[in-house]
Amino acid sequence: MKIKNICCIGAGYVGGPTMAVIAQKCPEIDITVVDINEKRIAAWNDENVDNIPIYEPGLSEIVEEARDRNLFFSTDIDAAIDKADMIFISVNTPTKTYGIGKGMAADLKYIELCARQIARVAKDDKIVVEKSTLPVRTAQALKDILDNTGNGVNYQILSNPEFLAEGTAVDDLMDPDRVLIGGDIDTSEGEEAVQALVDIYAHWVPEDRILTTNVWSSELSKLTANAFLAQRVSSINAMSELCEKTGADVNEVSIAVGMDSRIGSKFLKSSVGFGGSCFQKDILNLVYIAKSFGLNEVADYWEQVIIMNDHQKKRFASNIVKTLYNTVSGKKIAFLGWAFKKDTNDTRESAAIYVADYLLNEQAEIVIYDPKVRAEQIYADLDYLNTRTEEENRKQVKVVNSAYEACEEAHAVALLTEWDEFKELDWKKIYESMLKPAFLFDGRRLLERKTKEKIGFEFYAIGS
Ligand code: UDX
Ligand code: ADP
Repeated sequence: MKIKNICCIGAGYVGGPTMAVIAQKCPEIDITVVDINEKRIAAWNDENVDNIPIYEPGLSEIVEEARDRNLFFSTDIDAAIDKADMIFISVNTPTKTYGIGKGMAADLKYIELCARQIARVAKDDKIVVEKSTLPVRTAQALKDILDNTGNGVNYQILSNPEFLAEGTAVDDLMDPDRVLIGGDIDTSEGEEAVQALVDIYAHWVPEDRILTTNVWSSELSKLTANAFLAQRVSSINAMSELCEKTGADVNEVSIAVGMDSRIGSKFLKSSVGFGGSCFQKDILNLVYIAKSFGLNEVADYWEQVIIMNDHQKKRFASNIVKTLYNTVSGKKIAFLGWAFKKDTNDTRESAAIYVADYLLNEQAEIVIYDPKVRAEQIYADLDYLNTRTEEENRKQVKVVNSAYEACEEAHAVALLTEWDEFKELDWKKIYESMLKPAFLFDGRRLLERKTKEKIGFEFYAIGS
């Protein structure tokens, strides 16, 4: 089976970059990325590729090359479904905010809407690929809807979880550790569908890195991978607190531990806490699934990763209050960084949001600078918490266009995202513009202690 037309529903962080790379590598396949969000599609089609809605190093160049050749962005979802042999579902699956499983289970509302739309429109056989992270056995739900509401056409459901990390999405897509494809490999139709997707990736990924499994293993592997990664961060963060008490330095500990080839050196960087759209959501989802099978010990084990992460964010914030003589009321705190990590404009679940919320409850005034995050996003993140009114958020929080402006006359600076440019700042100039004693809290272990102390800062860093 040769795929000629692909439709991708959802033009977000996953759908956009993934389809751009497939389009670049497979010029013979026409790809249409569709979304209900007209503004987002218009941005993907913006003449100036610098205005595409997702910032990822290397992405705009690929979009420029493939767009309007074999990569299209559209709001005409029905037409794209109708034309496609293969449909990727890359819509959002947030944690449920209502009803059963509130705060834990994944909300599959958007996935179900997609399935119903595909069933209504499709007039010939389709391969449907789950790209969004989903709870185990979602494929069955998808198949039920497609088979029961469709026009009698055949569907093959594949699971093809994405493992791309934001900020390195293009590299991760170009040179993946592995591509995982789950399908109904016990039937010849299922095998054929799996092979069709293998053939697409085989345009640029060595075949020994393309792994095929049954659907359930594929779905669960995605949750497992994210749970393991998050667990490493929570493990080193747990040690960071112990380091602060004992005189050990968490960076030294992580180097020493990471040199053990059985442990490995990656993902052992202590921080103010992990963020991002995946880790918390996927672990909560895993906890929910385990509980629903009565596996309470399994559920508790993984929940601890989240509890530790929440503790780390709170600990960082409360340390600021404690250090500033137990009150930050009316004091100006400069935030350097708001994104959940460097090289992305994504702020979902960013630790900065929760640190800010804590300090705002203590009546601090916060002035924020992030090189890629816009003011409206920052206010939206704070408003979403519903801790105080929108008016209060705008009164207590200011967003500015430079690090120097943020730090001027501040009582303290909190570094929340590890943007490279923060290393290169003129820290002496910042020190001189601040109120004294000038406190500097490094939540990312980005800055060198010695030089900052020499300038005169009261310097605090996670895990030392
Ligand atoms: C993650 C997974 O890495 C990716 O495979 C999956 O598909 C989606 O979720 P992402 O959320 O983009 O990707 O970012 P990632 O680089 O994994 O970082 C997540 C969070 O952990 C960030 O807030 C980061 O700052 C933090 N982190 C990461 C640490 O604090 N220390 C580390 O050592 C690594
Ligand atoms: P992710 O990180 O998983 O890619 P995003 O929120 O960045 O998540 O992107 C998901 C996209 O899916 C959003 O742009 C949203 O508008 C889109 N979307 C959600 N439901 C539908 C739907 N039923 N049809 C088309 N697009 C949808």
